[in-house]
Amino acid sequence: MSQRLNTRYWAAQVMYQVVHKQQHLKQALQNVLPKTTEQQDKAWIQNLCYQTLRNHQNSSARWQKFTSKPVKDIIVAELLTLGVAQKLFLDTPDHAIVNESIKAAKKLNKHWATGLINKVLKLTISDQTFSTENEENLYNHQQWWIDLLKKDWPKHWQQIIAANNQKPPLWIRSRNPNITMDGTQHTQIKTAWLLNNQHASGSQELKGGQYSVQDAAAQYAATILQPQTGEKILDACAAPGGKSCHLLELSSEIELDILEKEPLRLRLVEENLKRLNLTASRIMVGDATEPNAWFQTPKYDKILLDVPCSAAGVARRNPDIKLLRQPEHLQQLTQLQQQILQQIAQLLKVGGQMLYVTCSVFRSENERQIKKFLRTNDNFEEIDIQIDAAEVCEHGQQIITGTDNMDGFYYCLLSRKS
Ligand SMILES: C[S@@+](CC[C@H](N)C(=O)[O-])C[C@H]1O[C@@H](n2cnc3c(N)ncnc32)[C@H](O)[C@@H]1O
Repeated sequence: MSQRLNTRYWAAQVMYQVVHKQQHLKQALQNVLPKTTEQQDKAWIQNLCYQTLRNHQNSSARWQKFTSKPVKDIIVAELLTLGVAQKLFLDTPDHAIVNESIKAAKKLNKHWATGLINKVLKLTISDQTFSTENEENLYNHQQWWIDLLKKDWPKHWQQIIAANNQKPPLWIRSRNPNITMDGTQHTQIKTAWLLNNQHASGSQELKGGQYSVQDAAAQYAATILQPQTGEKILDACAAPGGKSCHLLELSSEIELDILEKEPLRLRLVEENLKRLNLTASRIMVGDATEPNAWFQTPKYDKILLDVPCSAAGVARRNPDIKLLRQPEHLQQLTQLQQQILQQIAQLLKVGGQMLYVTCSVFRSENERQIKKFLRTNDNFEEIDIQIDAAEVCEHGQQIITGTDNMDGFYYCLLSRKS
């Protein structure tokens, strides 16, 4: 690690942005770290922040055991939490944890806290007796989230929580299903490989046009929709474009319309299309709840509806959401999902198919949305799909986070009868 950069100083500032300013981790890393940060330091800080956020409640509870009153200064509290995470997940030597955290505090002008950090960190990292019955601290999730998982998945909630708290594996999508890679091929999705080398994502091969990083669970979308030559297809919530690109890889002879509400995110779709040398028919900035502004006849043969959601099924990849997501967000999201579903369904041809997808495990975003939709749209029916490892729901199927190393995804395929 570089001697020039105090990595804890930067990590504490990233954590401050997430915990106090409710900024997403990816954004905070981008905003806080100086452009000149060396790759190695950046990777170390990133890994530390991700691991700390995956285990935030538990790591904080460990040091709080040794303070007589709450540490109100957020950045100092985060330095302590980062210190515990270094001990638990990064194998950092004890003296380095303490000394570097103190140096970071001084650089942050928190000289008053150096004695506290020294004492509390030394006690915490040598403590072998920590235990807790507080569920938030035990499971590293907010209580409302734990309660909802227990209600929605009485047999699977612990699996979901355990998977959310772990580093995710690296899945890639290969353009050539017959290629052999250093890893394990998915039993059902032949393009999906679980790589042995976690660090391969930065390799030249992956940066080139043959592979993309994409969880196997996400690769079911294009596989279920099975794009056929000549079909007119809509990807209604497309960015960053993983599933759009997969559709085009399976058949370049489709007419694919790509829609995304956020112009900046649409750029990511364009970059991905360019990297993979793929072409969409139309790339549109637009709102899926207002099709009049962008829709052109004829109607679509197939629609992919990968709606904005809580991302509760991919929390292991976005651990900040475990702290940031609140029940009212879930309420807003379910309203938006239903609006999008109702509007976009009108653009499907009779006999056409629409695949509703979320990367969530909450039933309110998944089967209950479909139930509500079918109640008011009796010209639609559900079509059976085959996802080997999924749980069959009243409507659609749920891949439970962690099953076969996959993210948590929900799928339901609908067809328009009249
Ligand atoms: C789950 S992500 C899509 C992921 C994408 N299908 C992929 O595989 O890469 C949902 C996307 O919907 C976009 N979105 C949110 N509200 C929207 C709306 N009203 N209309 C269109 N897109 C929307 C979000 O900006 C986000 O990029």
